[in-house]
Amino acid sequence: MDAQEPEVFSADALRKRLSTRIIGRRIIYHDRLPSTMDAAREAARNGISEGAVIITGEQVRGRGRLNREWLTPAGNIALSIILYPDRETLPYLIMMAATAVCRGIEAVTGLKPGIKWPNDILINGKKVCGILIENELPYKGSVTAVIGIGINTGLQPEAYREITETATSLEREAGMGISRTEIIVGLLEAFDELYDPGQDRATVYADWKARLVTLGEQVTVTWKDNVLEGTAESVDESGALVLRLPDGSTTVVVAGDVTLRKNNEAEEPESFDPADESEDT
Ligand code: BTN
Repeated sequence: MDAQEPEVFSADALRKRLSTRIIGRRIIYHDRLPSTMDAAREAARNGISEGAVIITGEQVRGRGRLNREWLTPAGNIALSIILYPDRETLPYLIMMAATAVCRGIEAVTGLKPGIKWPNDILINGKKVCGILIENELPYKGSVTAVIGIGINTGLQPEAYREITETATSLEREAGMGISRTEIIVGLLEAFDELYDPGQDRATVYADWKARLVTLGEQVTVTWKDNVLEGTAESVDESGALVLRLPDGSTTVVVAGDVTLRKNNEAEEPESFDPADESEDT
């Protein structure tokens, strides 16, 4: 693609390219939305079929984890996938989503993304994609999970002071125009394969773990008034981080702000809060 000519996005063209079993069987496209998360939750309440995907060309009130703002100017990817998984599958959704995004990016661009625990996608140390999962867990009945994925395709980070140093985009890293359709096809196809009931969950966990760039790093984890420092040693199959503390003991971290430390320099903290990603209704 020519980087100067923005792609004309078409939901029909996308639909025709997909050969998925569940994810993307229904695609709803809006030129502009406040947030695909709200549109997806509304669609789920109205009984939309599993695997439906809400996509927007531009998002004006996009949100990230911990209610942070997420910027989606035109020319980038913002979508939410609606799933009705069993409760045992819930911890794996983060792993599936992050792995699917990596596979989609790799297939289309040849770039090598990594995952910063639990699910930020980085290229050359900068964030190119964020994932937000919001669950509705009724006391009885089926679970609704909305998986929001924002990918910086054509974003110019220097235009936004708050992310200039920490974010990048696919076009910036690849040095060429990137088709949003191709990226979405790649990630939805990969997600569909990972979500398939026949897919071994241990393989999903292993694929995700193998892509984590956090492991082996010195990290600081903060949660409310608590601060933990140590080495990010591993992750368990629930997705939690296993931290080796200075006294040699280990502790399991399921929530907190994680700061990667390299050469004793702290990066911008990134947050993971399961409470934020799991709502009882
Ligand atoms: C994060 O890293 O904090 C998560 C960012 C998630 C952004 C996506 S864009 C599509 C969906 N709609 C939203 O409002 N947020 C998610």
